[in-house]
Amino acid sequence: MPQTDSAVIFKNGQRMSNRFMLAPLTNGQSHDDGKLSDEEYHWLTMRAEGGFGLTMTCASHVQFIGKGFAGQLGIYDDAHIDGHKRLAAAIKSNDSLAIIQLHHAGMRSPEDEIQEQPVSASDIEKHNARALSLLEVQQLRDDFIAAARRAQISGYDGIEVHGAHGYILSQFLSAEINKRNDEYGGDLQNRARLLFEIIDGIRVACGADFLLGVRLSPERFGMQLSEMKTLCQQLVDEHDIDFIDLSLWDVFKQTEEVQHQSKSLLEHFTEIDYKDVKLTVAGKINTGKDVQAILDAGVDFVTIGRAAILHHDFPKLVISNLDFEPVKLPVSEAYLAQEGLSEKFITYMKNWDGFVASPFHYETTYTLDKSHFSETFDESMTQNRTGKAYFKSIGLALAGFAILLFTDFSPYVAWFLVAIGGVDALGIYYRKPWWLARQMVSQAANNKLSLSIDENGVMSKSFAVESRLAWSEIERIERTKQGWLLYYPAGRSYLSARCLSEEANKFVSEQAALKLKQ
Ligand SMILES: Cc1cc2nc3c(=O)[nH]c(=O)nc-3n(C[C@H](O)[C@H](O)[C@H](O)COP(=O)(O)O)c2cc1C
Repeated sequence: MPQTDSAVIFKNGQRMSNRFMLAPLTNGQSHDDGKLSDEEYHWLTMRAEGGFGLTMTCASHVQFIGKGFAGQLGIYDDAHIDGHKRLAAAIKSNDSLAIIQLHHAGMRSPEDEIQEQPVSASDIEKHNARALSLLEVQQLRDDFIAAARRAQISGYDGIEVHGAHGYILSQFLSAEINKRNDEYGGDLQNRARLLFEIIDGIRVACGADFLLGVRLSPERFGMQLSEMKTLCQQLVDEHDIDFIDLSLWDVFKQTEEVQHQSKSLLEHFTEIDYKDVKLTVAGKINTGKDVQAILDAGVDFVTIGRAAILHHDFPKLVISNLDFEPVKLPVSEAYLAQEGLSEKFITYMKNWDGFVASPFHYETTYTLDKSHFSETFDESMTQNRTGKAYFKSIGLALAGFAILLFTDFSPYVAWFLVAIGGVDALGIYYRKPWWLARQMVSQAANNKLSLSIDENGVMSKSFAVESRLAWSEIERIERTKQGWLLYYPAGRSYLSARCLSEEANKFVSEQAALKLKQ
């Protein structure tokens, strides 16, 4: 039973400090020219700080024409190197291996982004893609290798070749898509030739110390399970790679191909002899128990996607508690922002059903009567230290008596002190009725108050008063017996739970939890 915090040693001696890899996660945060943005730097370095033993970048395109998404991180030009140097150094300074995923979208490149017809293994009408010429296939291979060199110069510990999810290398691998009749089409050997040449070329160009991984996905886009298994075995036996990363989308699922359902999808792949090549898998590994189950099944380390978006420190949370479970979905935009996602990434995550909650909005109206004032007093003012206040009045009275009994001072001074002490004590004792009386004669009393709560903050408005309190101004939120106390630098404000819906109470409670984390 491998421990979640035990190290992984790759065959070239490179050490990964624990069993957690951050999945490659496209997010649209890079600049239009493919250069690294501060947002991307922040999101990824936060994961390295959060304890991922290996931090993988999002898919990074090796040719401009292979751009798959707006805001994609590029590595197709030397102009990208400076950004990558900054990113790789920061990841590595957190004892995390820095690996970049090399990608080309092929027929899945949006024409809007690349300003020309996308390319693929063959002509694909559905995507308006044209087949690459033989020379262009060789150029593509060389550009993958050049990108790997760029990654090495930038300081990355290694690269992962993206051969999954129907992008260009899996378009070549797929018998459904690849209809070429040169040496890059036909049987599996030919369809895998491009992938193999890329891997072998990278190894020669970058040397034995550079980590080299391959990502594959066995289902969809015409990928057959038996061919994928053969491919894995061949990669292990005949090509010098360090790890295989299988993107299964659900590591606990059954195979889609009915004839292979005697074993689970994962079992099909764990039965392969990986020799000194490490195996990682991704897909719905969300809890501490999931992590341990996958390691126990013979996988060397786990790859975490969405749970790492939800918890930048997922590895630390699981290592310290194997019963760890992530927050329930959907989560608010404020939550994701606090986990290091920029607005662009949050917008991108809205494409994933049920991940980001629709912006919260709650509105209600009620009359500010005596019961409301009374509750506000009980919940927000009784915390004043009455004991200490009495101490002061008793002190004053005692000082008065001492002057009277033991000094020659005028008795008027002494009685004056005793009287002030007494008035003070009365003021403390009758503070609530006194405060209530003042509220009830104020303009606010018996007026309608409208209260609204949304992603920005809390707003209350009545004939007499109007107040806006942004969540960003609030320092702390405390649950009281009947509601919530919101502390801000200049004071505190009370929200009565009975005036809020169940969802509104839950929303405020989430805000309170966020404040605790900040
Ligand atoms: C927002 C998002 C972006 C992704 N981007 C990539 C990517 O750039 N490259 C890749 O190989 N897989 C990508 N994937 C797939 C993930 O790496 C991972 O395999 C998948 O999300 C399953 O893992 P999970 O259930 O832990 O999220 C992406 C997934 C998500 C949710």
